[in-house]
Amino acid sequence: MIITIDGPAGTGKSTVSRAVAQRLGFDFLDTGAMYRAVGVEAMRRGVDLDDQPALGEVAAACTVDFDWSVQPPGVLLNGRNVDHLLRSAAATHAASKIAVVPAVRQRMVELQRRIGRQRPNLVTEGRDQGSVVFPDAELKVYLDATPQERARRRTRQLQQRGEQADEREILEQIIIRDRRDSTRAAAPLTVPDGAVVIDTTPLTEEQVIQMVVDLANQRRRMGRGQ
Ligand code: DC
Repeated sequence: MIITIDGPAGTGKSTVSRAVAQRLGFDFLDTGAMYRAVGVEAMRRGVDLDDQPALGEVAAACTVDFDWSVQPPGVLLNGRNVDHLLRSAAATHAASKIAVVPAVRQRMVELQRRIGRQRPNLVTEGRDQGSVVFPDAELKVYLDATPQERARRRTRQLQQRGEQADEREILEQIIIRDRRDSTRAAAPLTVPDGAVVIDTTPLTEEQVIQMVVDLANQRRRMGRGQ
């Protein structure tokens, strides 16, 4: 059973997807981490992040895989664990630049589908998992929240980590990133056909997790004809 969880940043997608996978005993695929890993490789090679053909070559030449023996799975770039490099501001920026390149996306889609065949019980999280990569998934979820609420959550998260955070500035960045993600030519962020949309604005993370687990259990029962 494949469960796709898509939506913009700041909706709790990551935490919810991990928790749902854990409760169902499924594998968890963080597709954003794959884009981040290719971004890290592009930076290592000193490739200009506006040079789309060169970025396509970087994606074609590197391998991104996962170490499934640990939870959450470790990200392997050319066979080496790069988890500690993926969350920097530079990697976040590089990932968002390479994610608009069609050749990069094609390669990621191919790798993600291969993973889907190898790990048949999968919760996969991203922007295009239900719309492009696994349109026939048994359960497709789209998590949303108002930009204001997402900015509030992000600010709180940074403050809890002891980092400086200006909520107004974060809100502006969220609005710009939403616009870029939903208007890009290649696989724009969109609600997949047949997806269950959950507006997480008034909900706690635990409520969202439970809703998705309940939906998954319903679909499993339907699949067994009960
Ligand atoms: O979810 P995240 O912040 O780790 O994603 C990193 C970048 O990759 C972000 O700019 C969105 C992009 N992305 C994408 O375009 N498609 C995906 N399936 C996953 C992430």
